[in-house]
Amino acid sequence: MVAMKLAQRKLSLSRVYGLLEPGPVVLLATAHGGRENVMAMSWLTMMEFEPPLVGCVVSGRNWSFDLLSAAKSCVIAIPPASLARTVVGVGNCSGRRVDKFAKFGLTRLPASEVGAPLVAECVANLECFILKVGAAWAGPGVATRRLLHHRGRGVFFPSGAPMKLPSRMK
Ligand SMILES: Cc1cc2nc3c(=O)[nH]c(=O)nc-3n(C[C@H](O)[C@H](O)[C@H](O)COP(=O)(O)O)c2cc1C
Repeated sequence: MVAMKLAQRKLSLSRVYGLLEPGPVVLLATAHGGRENVMAMSWLTMMEFEPPLVGCVVSGRNWSFDLLSAAKSCVIAIPPASLARTVVGVGNCSGRRVDKFAKFGLTRLPASEVGAPLVAECVANLECFILKVGAAWAGPGVATRRLLHHRGRGVFFPSGAPMKLPSRMK
């Protein structure tokens, strides 16, 4: 666990949009009243570069909605494609009755600004206040590891090789 904490390095907030713009499936970690939870989320979009603003859809049927509404903060953790089975697992059961971190072997790390934990197995973790990203952390392989994209009905594909083109977008 200590090694994983050391592996997390602070990431400039200007780098956040590049992580979320391709639209990977993410994990939403929440905490309130001494309990922590994590769910899968693929309905999210960038809304501003810096400070980064992220729009996302969290169903009111999910326990995560209650925790997020109460805490007004969360962690958006970006899993590598290799975590696909875990992502589907945390997206198909509710934390109301089960500790999903323990059940799916996810490692919690303390965040710096929010109550929800970082997820050590993820390539990046974004500490967010409702809508605004306040702090970002990069894990090993943030620039190179494939992320997970959802095509619906349980079909996923890992991101492919990057293509660099001249662009004035920062
Ligand atoms: C790939 C995937 C993507 C998902 N995306 C979303 C999403 O964007 N918004 C949402 O509300 N639920 C989404 N879900 C469903 C939640 O993850 C699921 O309802 C979860 O069990 C909620 O857990 P909770 O009750 O512990 O919060 C997704 C599930 C999967 C498997």
